[in-house]
Amino acid sequence: MRVLDVGVGTGLMAREAAYLVGASGHVTGVDPSAGMMGCAVVPAGVKLLLGSAEAIPFGPDAADFISMGYALRHVADLSLAFREFMRVLKPGGRICVLEITSPAGRARRTLLKAYMRGVVPVVARYIARHRDVPQLMRYYWDTIEACASPSVIMGAIGDAGFVDVRRTVTLGVFSEYCARKAPRQQ
Ligand SMILES: C[S@@+](CC[C@H](N)C(=O)[O-])C[C@H]1O[C@@H](n2cnc3c(N)ncnc32)[C@H](O)[C@@H]1O
Repeated sequence: MRVLDVGVGTGLMAREAAYLVGASGHVTGVDPSAGMMGCAVVPAGVKLLLGSAEAIPFGPDAADFISMGYALRHVADLSLAFREFMRVLKPGGRICVLEITSPAGRARRTLLKAYMRGVVPVVARYIARHRDVPQLMRYYWDTIEACASPSVIMGAIGDAGFVDVRRTVTLGVFSEYCARKAPRQQ
């Protein structure tokens, strides 16, 4: 199993992928930020490469599975990104994209926003003891709020040629987008 984790960041998803595929598998993480990857903690054997969702440094059909955890909201061109996923994935391969979705109802959205922009930055500042942390945590929420809607994301996945496009939602905010590249015709 060759797993490609796009937007690998500090390696949370890549670590779990390495655990799941075991010694016979291969995990590669791609991220445009050398600084994030410099802080990554991943098992030996996990490769980290500079690149982005829109420009993956892989040839065609090079991955069996593509994961992306909480990085989609930073991608400027969803169509280009999913076309790249399609290019590097082997026929029959699958993708799984995790993202936080701003809640649909106005009251729940307002409550979560107040928590994420008000409470979390203060608590994080206290725990991390770094003056830039509140700004970072507010930015975290702002990117969630600015993220494309689930229907736009699913449309972009389908338009790139993926089949069986599905979204599973947990607690109203954690979205899991899964899809498959059709097997090659015999
Ligand atoms: C919240 S972190 C991701 C966390 C990571 N997936 C994990 O499991 O720990 C978001 C990451 O997306 C990366 N990113 C930003 N723009 C990107 C792009 N266009 N393509 C891929 N990754 C991108 C950032 O550099 C950052 O490392």
